[in-house]
Amino acid sequence: MYTSTLIALALATAASARPAFQRRQASALANGQAAIALNQQFASLTTSSSCTTGEDACVNQKFAQCVGGSFVVQACGPGTICAALPLTSGSGTTIACTTQSDLDARIAATGATSSDTTTAAAADTTSAAAAASTSVSSTDNSASSGSGSDLQSSTTLDPSVIQNVDDGQNPPTAGQTAAVVSQNNFMNFCALTLPNTPLTNGLQLTTGSCNPTPIGLIPSSDKMPSGKFQNPKNGATIPANKQFTITLQVKNIQLGDFTNAQQTYFANPQTLNSDGVIIGHTHFVIEAVDSLASTKVTDPTEFIFFKGVDDAQDADGNVSVNVTAGVPAGTYRMGTIVAASTHQPAIVPIAQHGLLDDVVYFTAK
Ligand SMILES: *[C@@H]1O[C@H](CO)[C@@H](O)[C@H](O)[C@H]1NC(C)=O
Ligand SMILES: *[C@@H]1O[C@H](CO)[C@@H](O)[C@H](O)[C@H]1NC(C)=O
Repeated sequence: MYTSTLIALALATAASARPAFQRRQASALANGQAAIALNQQFASLTTSSSCTTGEDACVNQKFAQCVGGSFVVQACGPGTICAALPLTSGSGTTIACTTQSDLDARIAATGATSSDTTTAAAADTTSAAAAASTSVSSTDNSASSGSGSDLQSSTTLDPSVIQNVDDGQNPPTAGQTAAVVSQNNFMNFCALTLPNTPLTNGLQLTTGSCNPTPIGLIPSSDKMPSGKFQNPKNGATIPANKQFTITLQVKNIQLGDFTNAQQTYFANPQTLNSDGVIIGHTHFVIEAVDSLASTKVTDPTEFIFFKGVDDAQDADGNVSVNVTAGVPAGTYRMGTIVAASTHQPAIVPIAQHGLLDDVVYFTAK
């Protein structure tokens, strides 16, 4: 793969005969140098650079995975960039989204500077190129990182992602509940509920479950999704039992992306595209109500039409679905349910905001 992994391997091997403490220092320095060299190489990559399937990199500061010989990029969260980071335990690097200042701090902590890697990286360019051209197959990060495995396959929590949140009651505020505090991001929270409440393991478990998947990427407040039904409009009257088209216009969401709802339900974090908007899809649901003025509380298990919207929006931001059989004469509430790719409701960065969904009422006669 990249030069730095070769350097890391070489230095780690050379260091192995030294006492543990020195070895740790040597490994930290080598990891820092490896990260610098890797980031220098990433700077020259573009989306048209060739790559080996399965390989991870950063392209234009976005997270890039090699699929079918070319990079597929995914933007990092707001304010963060994709970078190679020195591992803090074991030797090697990992690729992650972080802030520039965190990257700088992690590299500085290893004692590595860009001046001392320039030579090493340059000296090794030939062998890296040679290795690349003889198509080395073990190109993934984990292969090169020794005891520190790649963060995205590791089963331990990396210190860089530990949330540091207190219970919110310092000082206490009347009326507020103290939040539960965790030293490990609640990563084993669901162990408390097992076996009676199973893990949310990709299935839509109707008897309830406990989900261990993190929320993931949250957009900035100027990128919160919203939508408005274009048809039927609020208060409209449409012909009963005749096909009609539901049209919704949206902004700040990339529609048309959904995973297998029977096997991967709520099973991935929310992600954003390179414009910083949630990647996901929406749904249309129509429920019968007694009248436009009805105050009867509805039952979410009862609806007369439900459709996950498969398509991406068009250039105007519209998506449409036909209700081919129409709806019987009556009064209806129609709403959207906007979701991330793995079906969880869209999550936004601020508590006070307008609805992310739209709701209209119409009559069929
Ligand atoms: C789609 O978007 C356009 C442009 O904003 C809007 O005027 C139009 O009503 C929408 N199309 C339909 C079929 O509602
Ligand atoms: C709805 O049905 C009409 C034909 O009745 C068709 O032209 C149109 O493409 C359909 N729209 C969608 C979103 O399927």
